[in-house]
Amino acid sequence: MSSRTAASGSATATGRATRAVIPAAGLSTRFLPATKAVPKPMLPVVDRPVLQYIVEEATSAGVTDVLLITGRGKTSMVDHFDRQPELEERLAAKGDAARLEAVRRTAELAQIYTCRQTEVLGLGHAIAYAESHIGDAPFAVLLADEFPDESAPLLPQMLDLQAATGGIVIGLVEVPDEQTSRYGIASLSPDEPPPEAPEGAVTISGLVEKPPPGEAPSNLAIFGRYVLPGGIFEAIGRTKPGSGGEIQITDAIALMMAEGTPVHGIVYRGVRYDTGVPLGYLQAVVQLASKRDDIGADFRRWLTEFVRTWQE
Ligand code: UTP
Repeated sequence: MSSRTAASGSATATGRATRAVIPAAGLSTRFLPATKAVPKPMLPVVDRPVLQYIVEEATSAGVTDVLLITGRGKTSMVDHFDRQPELEERLAAKGDAARLEAVRRTAELAQIYTCRQTEVLGLGHAIAYAESHIGDAPFAVLLADEFPDESAPLLPQMLDLQAATGGIVIGLVEVPDEQTSRYGIASLSPDEPPPEAPEGAVTISGLVEKPPPGEAPSNLAIFGRYVLPGGIFEAIGRTKPGSGGEIQITDAIALMMAEGTPVHGIVYRGVRYDTGVPLGYLQAVVQLASKRDDIGADFRRWLTEFVRTWQE
């Protein structure tokens, strides 16, 4: 783990991005007061913080280098991916091989870098901090409060498609028509995506921030996954504060799109966990606990009984 800037190995020979940026400096107002002193990405889902699921998602897709954008009071996120020699010695002395392996694994997942967003001025502003680390290579962006089930990943197809087009690729998810006002929504172009695009790929002609129901151009919302070309930094530099007075990544993407950069989306059809709000967080905990090999059977039995008695 390091906070220095790396300068090489940013894409494979085929141009597939190998670096990821995880912006995690937000104020997490929808989860207060829990997130007043604990960073939202550190909330545990069973026995791993949300952030670990997201770093694992990135590394499973072939990412080897992760830049965490953090902020004041959020150093625990970086500590989680560091070694803990005292703890490791204690677990080794106790012969607790499983926990020792789990504790060591977090420090071995990827090369983790970190930098601080000193003021919370928006997602585009946070991503701009990655410029000196990323240079002009393509990179993935994973928001720190939602993730797909590991059995149905999205990022590998996104990285492949970006390597093929050289443009921008955005993860999309279908939302009910009445919920469009909570999300960035894509409008679709009739243009076919390139032949090598995976199933679920669409060509995007515009992005609208939080349109009211009835005015939304589609019901395809941005899932917090992007693969961006290095040119995005220059576009962010030209982006004025938008919705909420913040520098929005959607505005920088719209700027590049207007200037000819191809923008595609991939519609995700698997299970998505939204841990950014209490209800979605609880659903994620229940679903992922139910699937666990170790505690899943006992938990499901308890849950079934709980629901039965609750209904009576
Ligand atoms: P959100 O807009 O969902 O904000 O950020 P938030 O802070 O997570 O939560 P609420 O809405 O106040 O409850 C999406 C992602 O972008 C990061 C957040 O940490 C989150 O991972 N972000 C947002 C930044 O890193 N910096 C910013 O200035 C804004």
